[in-house]
Amino acid sequence: MAAARSALVDGLTGWGIYVVGFVPAVASFWLGATGGLGADPVRAFEQTLGLWALRFLILTLAITPLRQLAGINLLRFRRALGLLAFWYAAMHFTVYLTLDRGLLWDTILPDIARRPFITLGFSAFVLLIPLAVTSNRLSIRRLGKNWRRLHWLIYVAVALAAVHYLLATKVVDPGQAAHVGLIVLLLGYRLMRPLLPRRRPA
Ligand code: HEM
Repeated sequence: MAAARSALVDGLTGWGIYVVGFVPAVASFWLGATGGLGADPVRAFEQTLGLWALRFLILTLAITPLRQLAGINLLRFRRALGLLAFWYAAMHFTVYLTLDRGLLWDTILPDIARRPFITLGFSAFVLLIPLAVTSNRLSIRRLGKNWRRLHWLIYVAVALAAVHYLLATKVVDPGQAAHVGLIVLLLGYRLMRPLLPRRRPA
């Protein structure tokens, strides 16, 4: 009974994360449609979606250190956060293809191939696709140990996305420094973890 109740609470909280997670996209779309996104609404919308993709990637990476260093266990929300990152990146890419580039493939393909910051963003997005596709229980069971190996791709995707963000803007502002700084800390923690003393399970 208690297990069923806890599964129900987890399920509802998971859906709650999706509902809250899509609020920035809906709010930004609404502002864009009603003239509230300034002089260049397409650019502002594209930037908001990219920024939230990065934020959800950061939150996904923060789950493990939070558990290991602070004993806060939010593991059950990691899948929802990772999928939100994927959907925001997909929306960011869709806005780039449609509203920004007008689906003009003869300019889009050279842009992806030749502009380093676009190439990096595109590569980060491509790496997120197998992670999103295999984020279900069936794939976890079927892939076994390989699932963990495959999901290490998230570290590469986040690193590429961070450089994409740095190159997308000419000057580094405090917000950008904070986002990229967090990513450096989180990736650094993964690299240093084998050297840190292990916490005994409570
Ligand atoms: C994991 C995937 C990605 C993440 C996390 C991401 C994140 C970001 C971030 C944070 C920005 C800067 C927003 C700002 O200036 O405040 C940005 C800008 C941009 N991204 Fe991405 N991006 C990703 C993939 C892509 C892809 C696949 C494309 C297109 C092929 C793309 C195209 C752009 C463009 C054109 C800008 C500049 C918008 C502008 O300022 O005019 N990104 N992205």
